[in-house]
Amino acid sequence: MEKMKIRFGVIGCGLMGKEFASAAARWCHLSNVNFMPQITAVCDANPAAASWFTDNVPTVKKAVTDYRELLADPEVDAIYCAVPHNLHAQLYTDIIRAGKHLLGEKPFGIDLEANRQIMQAIREHPDVIVRCSSEFPFFPGAQRIAEWVAAGQFGRIIEVEAGFWHSSDLDPRKPINWKRRIATNGEYGCMGDLGMHVAHLPLRFGWKPNRVRALLTKVVEERPDGRGGMVPCETWDNAILACDVATADQSFPMVLSTKRIAPGHANTWFIRILGTKGSAEFSTKNPKQAAFLPYIPGGEQAWHVADVPYKTAYETITGGIFEFGFSDSILQMWAAFCDELANGSRMMQPFTCATPEEAEASHKLFTAALESGKTGQTIAIPWGN
Ligand SMILES: NC(=O)c1ccc[n+]([C@@H]2O[C@H](COP(=O)([O-])OP(=O)(O)OC[C@H]3O[C@@H](n4cnc5c(N)ncnc54)[C@H](O)[C@@H]3O)[C@@H](O)[C@H]2O)c1
Repeated sequence: MEKMKIRFGVIGCGLMGKEFASAAARWCHLSNVNFMPQITAVCDANPAAASWFTDNVPTVKKAVTDYRELLADPEVDAIYCAVPHNLHAQLYTDIIRAGKHLLGEKPFGIDLEANRQIMQAIREHPDVIVRCSSEFPFFPGAQRIAEWVAAGQFGRIIEVEAGFWHSSDLDPRKPINWKRRIATNGEYGCMGDLGMHVAHLPLRFGWKPNRVRALLTKVVEERPDGRGGMVPCETWDNAILACDVATADQSFPMVLSTKRIAPGHANTWFIRILGTKGSAEFSTKNPKQAAFLPYIPGGEQAWHVADVPYKTAYETITGGIFEFGFSDSILQMWAAFCDELANGSRMMQPFTCATPEEAEASHKLFTAALESGKTGQTIAIPWGN
């Protein structure tokens, strides 16, 4: 199939910038798509980070330290921006105003005010396609849960729990980095880091919390500074948000949790929905398995745990019996973004990347959660403004 080439510039050549390059390099994994990304230019403030790209990605023609050079480059159609959170507002608004399509990393601004600036630039440029990175909903088990929600298989929702738990900060000897500092990661802490991943599916399903009570914790108070001393860890390690959700026809409690210090969880994203007609659960801890419990009044309560086939939003060369993993979810997310750039409203499948409106909603939730954490009160979320 003839593939439309979308020329990408990458700003931020760290952990996530490289994940994109790896996904682009194995585009042949996708069996039936009419688009492909080509990384033509990269930018990192640290030239050593960009040199990984010039060493490994043959299509890269330009490596620079000032991102404005990418924005002025007519051979760049779209940008992937994966930089620390304090830079999101400036860089994302500049990218959008330069007319480049953008897949931006979460949280889409270090705080609500930064997010407002990004949303303003988006409103000024409706012709530019802007999406927020969030890959876990592309796991086949998560896609299946989304199908069950769309088909109304849960009946009345009793409660929902979703979380992203990892333990990359469990070791107190790990040196401090930008993700543990308010100036670079933001006051949201773990919510800014992990929260969009957790909020994405509930928001996609229309489950906006009206009110939130947050429990925010700091587990490791200080860390090595890498120069022999210790420095304070400024950001929240773990957050548990107890939310009231009210939709047009029902209301239910929803617990969203983001934890950087969750012993036993290297990188676990999960969602559990309990309903009067059916309940379901998917966790990346068991990426092949999705559980469903159908319920008929008076009937048995038996979980059906199915090995989910490798059935993805975009078809791949991989056989149905094999396992799906993190890098597959990144590839599927990238396919969804490129599909939207190539095919607009006629995407090859309907599940889009997280939208700016979903990222904006997550900011309103996390801002209210911060206030709840500080005051100990339940905080109403002002959706109207
Ligand atoms: N989707 C996910 O699963 C996921 C996972 C981790 C991080 N993230 C997000 O990705 C973004 C980046 O995180 P990371 O883990 O890749 O960080 P990182 O520290 O590995 O990489 C960030 C890069 O940005 C570069 N940089 C800093 N200032 C710059 C500037 N002015 N111009 C150009 N480059 C600059 C740094 O030199 C560094 O190489 C964050 O928004 C983070 O929340 C997403």
